[in-house]
Amino acid sequence: MPKILILYYSRTGNTQKMARAVAEGAITIQGVDVDVKYYATPSELAGSDAIVVGIPTYHHDMTTDIKKLFEEAAVKKINLKGKIGAAFGSYGWSGEAPRLILEIMKNKFGMNIIESPMLVKYSPNESGLEKCRQFGKEVAEKLMA
Ligand SMILES: Cc1cc2nc3c(=O)[nH]c(=O)nc-3n(C[C@H](O)[C@H](O)[C@H](O)COP(=O)(O)O)c2cc1C
Repeated sequence: MPKILILYYSRTGNTQKMARAVAEGAITIQGVDVDVKYYATPSELAGSDAIVVGIPTYHHDMTTDIKKLFEEAAVKKINLKGKIGAAFGSYGWSGEAPRLILEIMKNKFGMNIIESPMLVKYSPNESGLEKCRQFGKEVAEKLMA
């Protein structure tokens, strides 16, 4: 079964709420396997067909765990070419992190990315969660297309 990995980091729980809603949306599409994780290894990236990264912005940057994971994957020459990539995250005022990870997915790994990241300011309210569900659904539909 095609597999979607939703990998997220969250310090105060906002991106975690988003990740759960993205997963809820993705599993509404039949025939996809959805895994939500806080930690993954480079080989788990390789074992997924779509990689959706949830990453909040701290100090105008990506948080280090996810940055390191992709750096490690690059060092190990993990092949992610053509896999679907998407990113989302909570932010306060600038929200660069999801865009930065998408650039790495596209330019370093040759992934097939969904260009616009899904951003929610601070804690998602019900309309923010619904946007997350739609985003998850969109990724799953792209994977099954
Ligand atoms: C020390 C600190 C630095 C931050 N830096 C940024 C920043 O550079 N840009 C931004 O958009 N938000 C920034 N934020 C806001 C966080 O992105 C925001 O609180 C977000 O909801 C955190 O998500 P999380 O709960 O998933 O960790 C910062 C917050 C803290 C506490």
